[in-house]
Amino acid sequence: MNNENNPDLMEKVVSLCKRRGFVFQGSEIYGGLANTWDLGPLGVELRNNILQAWWKFFVHSRRDVVGIDAAIFMNPKVWQASGHVDNFNDTQIDCKACKKRYRADHLIEDALENVKVEGLSPEDLTKIIKENNIKCPNCGATDFTDVRTFNLLFETHIGPTSENTEPVYLRGEIAQGMFVNFKNVLNTTRKKLPFGIASAGKAFRNEITPGNFIFRTLEFDLMEFEYFIKEDMWKEKFDYWLEEMHKWLGIVGIDKENTRVREHTKNELSHYSKRTVDIEYNTPFGWKELYGLAYRTDFDLKNHQENSGQDMTYFDQESGEKFIPHVIEPTFGLSRTLLMVLFNAYNEEEIEDAKGNKETRVVLKLKPNVAPFKVAVLPLMKKPELLKKSEEIFDLLKNDFALDFDITGSIGKRYRRQDEIGTPFALTIDYDSLEDNAVTVRDRDSAKQERVKIDELGDYLMEKIIR
Ligand code: GAP
Repeated sequence: MNNENNPDLMEKVVSLCKRRGFVFQGSEIYGGLANTWDLGPLGVELRNNILQAWWKFFVHSRRDVVGIDAAIFMNPKVWQASGHVDNFNDTQIDCKACKKRYRADHLIEDALENVKVEGLSPEDLTKIIKENNIKCPNCGATDFTDVRTFNLLFETHIGPTSENTEPVYLRGEIAQGMFVNFKNVLNTTRKKLPFGIASAGKAFRNEITPGNFIFRTLEFDLMEFEYFIKEDMWKEKFDYWLEEMHKWLGIVGIDKENTRVREHTKNELSHYSKRTVDIEYNTPFGWKELYGLAYRTDFDLKNHQENSGQDMTYFDQESGEKFIPHVIEPTFGLSRTLLMVLFNAYNEEEIEDAKGNKETRVVLKLKPNVAPFKVAVLPLMKKPELLKKSEEIFDLLKNDFALDFDITGSIGKRYRRQDEIGTPFALTIDYDSLEDNAVTVRDRDSAKQERVKIDELGDYLMEKIIR
């Protein structure tokens, strides 16, 4: 759903997530821990389905991309070489009156229309805030501290004491694992340029102002790949990957009209990038970054070669040249994809119940490939013969489809529940099923029902779900 049609979309999606078990507050029984969230039974299925679809599209269905899974802890020299220790910063500012903390760039951009300030120095940001008399959104005061920078890497120590030990970092991006393994992959896979290394996993950022539910959190799931190229290919490959990223949006059912592409200004480019575009989503809290596509040049491999003393060059057999490859990096926040998929799929429809009363049907129109359950098996009543038949159907389908088995409440209530969690098909097993060996299949989106023979069910569902 487009959020313009539903101003309360955020509240509704958050409530649905909790009510149906997509997302829970982290450590809830202890009052929570700010900006940590846990995925519930349905959230973890949705997340895994998105990840599998991503891996299938960007890794398995291509001959030029392979995957790795690198350790979260890396030698701290990696983060010095990558520039993250010096440059991976945000700007923070505190209201002196109410003590509320803000990211300075967000404070300015929210107060002043069409002003983009990423990349400006703390002094410049302080000046803008003062000159424009920007007010604290919490208490209205205009008395702020000066803007300071703040490194986003989480630090910890290995060993029983933190005294005299060098800090290690929780990875702030998963990209570095792919750069430091560039030679390992090259030597073991016989890949030739251009080729990519893909990875997915947790990244950690000590964000000053996380928020908006799971949109900006301290730890999050990320999927990205580094596509290694010859320098002169970069423009062509940049355009190519932007198109593929748009195809990917369609694969998980994110409507193109809810997204837009935004070019980074020179000031806001990351320390490693020569060109970056964001794919933004029209969220209930404004246009926000969903994905990024960056041309990282040879910045990372070159720095790792200099700092590690290891050779990071590639030998091109055709031309006889030896050089450090350049890199195009498409990056996809998985946690954010999950949230945008939910925003996009959330629908409310006015319907009439059997007595002609109007009611609102909430339906998550998830694409079947990402839906937590593909099919719900619903015995009409809790009668032994119907349960037995339903269990037989469950066993018949369980190897091919993720199934829910739901026996609680009236059949109408169960349909509503399955609509709300986005199950594309519900099968009802009734007394006729014992006679005609058929079940009623209900389509989530149209609510139309069709009688299908049990021995044809597998093919019938497969055809609909794949289509
Ligand atoms: N390797 C490049 C890189 O990490 P990034 O733009 O800093 O680029 C990649 O982050 C993606 O991670 C973003 O496009 C966004 O989807 C997601 N992301 C970034 N910070 C996040 C946070 N605090 N919480 C959730 N997702 C985040």
